[in-house]
Amino acid sequence: MFPQKFAVAGGTGNLGPTIVEALIDANFEVIILSRSSFHNVDPRAKLQVVDYAFLESLTAALTGQDAVVNVLPSKIIPVEIHFQLIEAAHKAGVKRFLPSEYGCDTSHPPTAKLPIYCDDKVAVVKRLKEISEQESTFTFTPIVTGLFFDWGIEKNFIVNLVGPLSPIYNGGDTLFSTSTLSGIGRAVVGVREHSKETNNRHVYIASTTLTQNQLIEWAEKSDQLQREFVHTADLEEQAYKALKQTPPDAETSMLNLIRCAIFDPRYRSAFSKVDNELLGVPVLPKSEIVEILQQYV
Ligand SMILES: NC(=O)c1ccc[n+]([C@@H]2O[C@H](COP(=O)([O-])OP(=O)(O)OC[C@H]3O[C@@H](n4cnc5c(N)ncnc54)[C@H](OP(=O)(O)O)[C@@H]3O)[C@@H](O)[C@H]2O)c1
Repeated sequence: MFPQKFAVAGGTGNLGPTIVEALIDANFEVIILSRSSFHNVDPRAKLQVVDYAFLESLTAALTGQDAVVNVLPSKIIPVEIHFQLIEAAHKAGVKRFLPSEYGCDTSHPPTAKLPIYCDDKVAVVKRLKEISEQESTFTFTPIVTGLFFDWGIEKNFIVNLVGPLSPIYNGGDTLFSTSTLSGIGRAVVGVREHSKETNNRHVYIASTTLTQNQLIEWAEKSDQLQREFVHTADLEEQAYKALKQTPPDAETSMLNLIRCAIFDPRYRSAFSKVDNELLGVPVLPKSEIVEILQQYV
């Protein structure tokens, strides 16, 4: 069965390089689709310059590939680019498509209805379902990961450990699921290794499920951080107001709704069932979480 060929679209961004590395380490052949030849990429991968506007050349680039991992950004680029990549993969005879999911649980109906997701990640999965129902050789697997853990700590998005002020959502005791970039890379490999069990369904992973208050305590910052208490219900109200403005303030709306989806249990912030064991994604012990925190405080 090995080696198998993967095309990683957007493999040069925040998440992509870790996925590329995990695939190559697992003996898969990888081409990275990119708009430019000027990226520094893993020398074991091939960089293929593409123009996402042209279906035929995109299809040619994907011909001979077994799987496509889409790691292009969501929402900040037109959803039509995601549809075009699906169309090209389908035409090229690709067997498995992993859409650019990698976040909150959009399979949960209240989350799926949020404007950041409904006409973007959710519409993409709907399109994948339609094609796979028409053609059984075309299959798909969205990976739900929660917030990126190490990336989110580095960017002070989960909690601002460098202070002095950190937003604390709904009191800070809400459990939320979160995954490291390397855990996500491992999950992509796991999907290919367990292609039957992951056929045409969402899979869920979490490197850990914890709270903001736990993180602050484990980073030994309890006495030093000033807390800005934020209610996600207020964020949500502001998000919808921002959308109704003329012109709409899409950025405020998007950021607020993402924070709601991450920290509000109504949007299933903590996953009740995960596929870590199937996919070989480790759950981090406290000591490893503390190690990651220490890199950024
Ligand atoms: N859960 C989380 O915490 C979290 C955080 C961030 C992102 N995400 C999700 O992870 C996925 C990947 O996000 P990311 O942050 O890794 O992406 P990114 O770094 O913003 O972009 C990935 C690559 O996409 C290409 N790209 C950028 N703009 C483009 C455009 N307009 N048209 C075509 N290609 C474009 C670029 O590659 P080239 O220059 O090589 O073409 C870029 O390096 C998305 O689904 C995103 O929603 C989740």
